[in-house]
Amino acid sequence: MSGFDTVIYEKNGNIACVTLNRPQALNAFSVQMRDDLFEILGAIRVDDEVRAVLLKGAGDKAFCAGADLREFLTAPSAIKARHIRSVRDLWRLFMSMPQPLIAALHGYVLGSGIEMALFCDLRIATPDVVFGFPEVTLGILPAAGGTQTLPRILGLSGALDMLLTGRRLNAQEALSKGMVNQIVPRETLLHEAEELAQKIASYDPVVVRNAKQALTKGMDMTLDQGLDLEWRLAAKTRETRQASKS
Ligand code: COA
Repeated sequence: MSGFDTVIYEKNGNIACVTLNRPQALNAFSVQMRDDLFEILGAIRVDDEVRAVLLKGAGDKAFCAGADLREFLTAPSAIKARHIRSVRDLWRLFMSMPQPLIAALHGYVLGSGIEMALFCDLRIATPDVVFGFPEVTLGILPAAGGTQTLPRILGLSGALDMLLTGRRLNAQEALSKGMVNQIVPRETLLHEAEELAQKIASYDPVVVRNAKQALTKGMDMTLDQGLDLEWRLAAKTRETRQASKS
């Protein structure tokens, strides 16, 4: 797949690599980027060869500095926005990805940047990373899932702290709060993220997908429902593995 204005898509064996590619604007999330990501993730989602997905940002300074502020004045009407959301809901697409998503994060990870990172399953960051939700300071609400995904990761209190005050987290704070899984030097970020993706891709993809589903779907269920889901997925995994051996 090629020819996207704002995103680079590369497939390396079983790994899909998606690069936000507007470094001159700190990879700010634009309407075109939404459309490009929607097309790319939609294709990855149904690509059974892909066993893990890597999301990263081009350039030295940022993974993504949030929504493109230059597009704010050209925002569509509420009716048009609702229509676009109904036909091109990128955030639900992120949530519905069956493969594990790994975010490789450096520099500024703000607004829709952090929201995309929070839709990923694993987050690796560099020491210079800065996480933040500037929305409150701009008089708007996060609208790419942040009010829902953040408390699921930081807990309600930590999420309120970030969302109501605009407080930014550095790498160590993010690590201690469980927002990132590991911190690695900038020079090795990509290598470490790729190694992690390769490791996951080396496992049985049915097991990996079902484990992801049990955890991510189970989180939104009661414990009782979650245990049923786990039981069903474990049985399905066993059956699929047995069928593939016979
Ligand atoms: N939308 C559009 N362009 C953006 C942008 C955004 N969210 N963030 C940065 N840019 C652009 C800048 O306008 C600048 O473009 P220019 O060189 O043509 O003037 C370029 O990216 C570099 O940014 P700059 O502000 O010069 O870098 P900095 O290191 O001084 O500051 C930030 C970095 C992230 C602190 C600062 O760019 C910033 O506050 N950005 C906005 C963050 C934000 O509020 N996002 C919206 C969340 S809803």
